[in-house]
Amino acid sequence: MAAPNIETIVSLAKRRGFVFPASEIYGGLGSSWDYGSLGVELANNIKQSWWRWLVHERDDIEGLDSSIIQNRMVWRYSGHENTFSDPLVDCRKCKGRFRLDKLQDVTCPNHSGSQPGQGPECDLTEAREFNLMFKTTVGAVSADDDPSALAYLRPETAQGIFVNFANVLNTSRRKLPFGIAQIGKAFRNEVTPGNFIFRTREFEQMEMEYFCREEESAGFHQEFIDGFMQWFKSIGIKEENLKQYEQSKEELAHYAVRTVDILYRFFPERDDESKQFDELMGIANRTDFDLKTHSKKPEDAEGKRINPDSTEDLSYFDPQTNERFYPHVIEPSCGVNRTILAVLMDAYTERVNDKGETRVILSLKPSLAPIKVAVLPLAKNKPEIVEKAKKLKKDLLPYMRTVYDDTGGIGKLYARQDEIGTPFCVTVDHETLEDNAVTVRDRDSWEQERVPIDSLRDYLQKRLIERG
Ligand code: GAP
Repeated sequence: MAAPNIETIVSLAKRRGFVFPASEIYGGLGSSWDYGSLGVELANNIKQSWWRWLVHERDDIEGLDSSIIQNRMVWRYSGHENTFSDPLVDCRKCKGRFRLDKLQDVTCPNHSGSQPGQGPECDLTEAREFNLMFKTTVGAVSADDDPSALAYLRPETAQGIFVNFANVLNTSRRKLPFGIAQIGKAFRNEVTPGNFIFRTREFEQMEMEYFCREEESAGFHQEFIDGFMQWFKSIGIKEENLKQYEQSKEELAHYAVRTVDILYRFFPERDDESKQFDELMGIANRTDFDLKTHSKKPEDAEGKRINPDSTEDLSYFDPQTNERFYPHVIEPSCGVNRTILAVLMDAYTERVNDKGETRVILSLKPSLAPIKVAVLPLAKNKPEIVEKAKKLKKDLLPYMRTVYDDTGGIGKLYARQDEIGTPFCVTVDHETLEDNAVTVRDRDSWEQERVPIDSLRDYLQKRLIERG
């Protein structure tokens, strides 16, 4: 099974310390969330899995970590200053503010059950464009609206990659095709954030720009679509909860010739199956738009430089053909937070124990689990048992994230570890002092096995690797 709805995960996440509402003691801040001790581990493990799979396991991708605040020109020439906006309408009567393109998805606060504009009292204004970039000022400025100090928080990590293309190319001595990958925060002043961590104003992206020749771009595009479907499955997301969506010509961003979104079943409770899915990531063919737009050389039809502010030409010279050209780009762009949500929803399982009680199990892939092994003493008032358990924790720690926990009875401790996705519990009991063996309990089957301490590390490592 998977979680029946996002609300189930909101409650588990708060109860167990994965995700909390941000600034909660001051009433919160619309759709902002903080990641607790388990949430930060899960997020790190997801990012590490992505990075290992894409950057380390392949031989053609370099990493990068560019600034969140860049020169404003980056966003002028990327097109964000002019086009990164949503069309907004206001209702003169109820003062509600809505995205014109999402009217069908929301209900009017004054006329529950009807869409904005459909109620008898609705009076919508003409649409106007609202730019989604957060503004800030850089340096000690006298006025908040000083245009020379204006800067933006990046709305995507991608542009930091394009403006570093020549730096990475020259220092890594790469030849086409090759990619540059980056993980980091992005900010969008979303008009209608919501659905927990699905749409927020501050979020994290895992993006990669793959630079290639135009004629190879369609093939690489398809390879990355197939590759990412496999990666999502490898981190535990079930195939039946994933779907591909080919964007129509009208939906494509101004720079893209083809974009395929990978959707996840974030809303399983909806009757209409087609409305159960929403975007987990997008994979776009961005053509040569980005490198050209940030380059000083290209000219428009009248012979005017399209970018008089850039000091660099981001073209590529092919020594074999003696050709100079702007590489085309395939961009797989994936949300960290949406991946966390999909992983949590898919891992959510309920199981009835022999007392008829329903227990929650988070069947995370061990590689993503915040804690791999919990060492539990059966009697915390027996110093020899406690000492042995603490030593075991210390011995296992260099090899796998291990915790020691004696904060409750064994049944409660098992239930807690099941709910946070710990694949194995190791119990130190009275017999351990006699036979130097421990009980290893499996999260998913609840089966228990006696394992000698001398072979415990090998045993656990083997089983963790088997499960992925
Ligand atoms: N560079 C391309 C780009 O940014 P996008 O489709 O706007 O493309 C990519 O964003 C991914 O980032 C989305 O598929 C989603 O996973 C994530 N994302 C975008 N906006 C988000 C938001 N407001 N909250 C959480 N995740 C978001």
